[in-house]
This record gives sequence, C-alpha cells and structure tokens, in this order.
Amino acid sequence: MDTLKREVLSQRVRQVKPSGIRKFFDIINTMPDVISLGVGEPDFVTPVHIRQAGIRSIELGHTRYTSNFGMIELREELAAMLHRRYGLTYDPTSELLVTVGVSEGVDLAMRTIIDPGDEVISPDPGYVAYEADIIFAGGVPVPVPTYAQYEFGVRASEIAAAITPRTKMILLGNPNNPTGAVIPQVELEGIAKLAIEHDLIVAIDEVYSRLVYDQEHRSIASLPGMRERTILLDGFSKAYAMTGWRIGYVAAPAHILEAMLKIHQYTIMCAGTAPQEAAIQALRHGENDVRRMYEDYSRRRRMFVDGLNRIGLNCCEPRGAFYAFPYVGASGMTDEDFAEKLLFEEHVAVVPGSAFGLAGKDYVRCAYCTAYDQLEEALVRIDRFLKKYSTGSST
Ligand SMILES: Cc1ncc(COP(=O)(O)O)c(C=O)c1O
Repeated sequence: MDTLKREVLSQRVRQVKPSGIRKFFDIINTMPDVISLGVGEPDFVTPVHIRQAGIRSIELGHTRYTSNFGMIELREELAAMLHRRYGLTYDPTSELLVTVGVSEGVDLAMRTIIDPGDEVISPDPGYVAYEADIIFAGGVPVPVPTYAQYEFGVRASEIAAAITPRTKMILLGNPNNPTGAVIPQVELEGIAKLAIEHDLIVAIDEVYSRLVYDQEHRSIASLPGMRERTILLDGFSKAYAMTGWRIGYVAAPAHILEAMLKIHQYTIMCAGTAPQEAAIQALRHGENDVRRMYEDYSRRRRMFVDGLNRIGLNCCEPRGAFYAFPYVGASGMTDEDFAEKLLFEEHVAVVPGSAFGLAGKDYVRCAYCTAYDQLEEALVRIDRFLKKYSTGSST
C-alpha cells in the first residue's frame, strides 16, 4: 500500500498483521478435490428442530430488536444451564449478555477492561483473534509459550513469570484453538491464585467447552474467589453447529457486564432475533444433538490422532475442541512450506502453526471436523507426502 493510503489508517489497525490463514483459504477455494483440514468449523448442519425454531421466529414476524441484553427467556435458560453445569449463579437480568458470537464477547471484554498500554497475558499458540482484539483495544499482548511436552497446557508458573505491574488481564481459551489443549485442573487453580494475588481479570473463552474428551469441563469461574473476576465467554457455534447464526453470550459480575453492555448497545444494539430464538430451542431441546456430535468428533479424534502418530507425525493428545496439532519439523520443512507443499502436491489443506503465534512454529493445525472417510484419505495422502520427502532427503 502506498504511504499516503497507509497513513489514513489508525496505528492500531496497522499494528495487526493480516490473517496468515486467509491466503490458504483463497487458494483452497480455487482447487477441486482438496480435503480441507483447514477450517475450524463443524461439518454438521444445525439440528433441524433448531433451524425450525429460527424459521418459526421469522414466520411469526419476530423481526424487531430485542432487549440490548438479549431476550430474557434466553438469559434465563443460560442462567439455568450455567447453574446446572458449574454450580454458578448469574442473575439473568444483570449478569448475562447475549452477543454476536464469542467473537463479539472477546472484543467487548478487551475494550471494557483494557486501557492503552495495559498488558494482557495469553497462551501461545492461541486463537488468532485474541492478539488482534487486544491491540484494537490499545493493549499489549504478552504471549506465554506452551509446549508439546505438556500437551500445550498453559502452566501457571509461565503465567507468573509474565506478570508485570502493567498486567491487567489473563485471556485464556479452554479448550484451546489451535492445539486442542485443555488446561489441567491444577494449573487452573494456580492461575486463579495468581489472578487473585495480583488482582487480575480473567477472560475465559469456553466456546469448545462441550467438546472436552474423557473428562469433565471445569470453568475457572467456578473456583473459589474467581466468579467476581472472571468474564466467561461461550456460545452456540461449536456445540450446536451454529457458526453462521452468530450467537454467543457473556457471563460476568454485574459491574463488568454493565460496562460491556455500554459498548454492545452502541455498536451492536442486540444479537439477531431469530438466532436468539433458535438458541433458546438449542438450550431447551438440543442436549441429544450435542452428545451425538460429541461422540462423532470423539471417534474421529481417536482415529486421526492415532493415524498421525502412526505415519510419523508426532502429535500429543488433544483433549478438547476438534484440532490436532502435530509436529512437522522432522520433515525438514518449515510449517509454512509443509502446508503449502501438502496443499499443492497432495491437495490436503492444513494451517501452519506459526499463524497462531511464535510457539506454533514447526507445527500445523489439522481440524478433524470433517467426514471420517475424508480423514482416512487425508492420512493416506499425508503419509505418501512424508515418504516422498524422507526418500528425497536420503538420496
Ligand atoms: C477459540 C475460539 N474462540 C472464538 C471463536 C469464534 O466463535 P463464534 O463463532 O462464537 O464467534 C472461535 C472460532 O473458531 C474459536 O476457535
């Protein structure tokens, strides 16, 4: 971009790099027969009864704004669900806000809490929007590396080492995108202790909370002393296969939620009405669908992660979400080269780990939310790709 055009843009926007993933998706869209392990989105369609609730809402002429907070029926269902799942009590009239996806919730959390120069600690690799949202709010991202040897679980000791007098917040994804890591209970407790000691806010993105395998999901908000300093962000995109509906929520103490509402009401007004009615249906009658999709992801995860390790791509156990994050450094290629060559030569799309932070270098993210037989075929292609290059390097 020429200098004149560039100078029009704010420093904050200029500071954020364009998404490293976009380039790949643009290429994928031009190629037939690509098996895409690139997109972190359920391959299921929203369950039919939830879709019908959205259609019914429109047919009944529910086409107006709702309350800025979101429909009270939805907030009441959310409060009941949070109580059932975590034993947490949130007042539906002042402590719950319906958002346009967790995406909006993360942005609101940053802009509500962060002043220019405030530091926000967040695990690396992490979801691409975190760093951008911190910068858009004027904050300073402080990445804390996570390691395959600890299954990429963030450790309280690493967070402790990153705390400075400017630290205002810890932003966590649990489970994590791109690694599928779940924060171990003992680390969650350690992080809670740090937050209390240093008087920090914790923003926790739990959009994958219904996709935790072989253990129960625990929210950091439910630990002693944490409810009053936690901004809990969750939504319907992943659990109910509702990405396109753009619906999520925030649960937070009233004084924080009221401030978040201030930004939400001036920038968004309210979440869509039909999506809110669909979300009510999801909470009231969608439990079997969540279980069904969970079982399916669980089956794919077992096959795919075992398969990666079998063909020589070391992959630690992803305990949540629908991502595997294997090490590709042994191939002698950078993660970007690996992803690019794999796409052009074998038509399998994965995302270079470095798109999610420096600590993701030498890894790639594979989203296994695609059909079982496609995953099997992807393994065949990746195996062939690896063999080709290992032969190549020895001759
Ligand atoms: C960790 C994480 N948070 C938030 C989002 C966005 O969620 P939503 O669709 O609710 O905005 C995603 C989407 O991929 C994600 O991976």
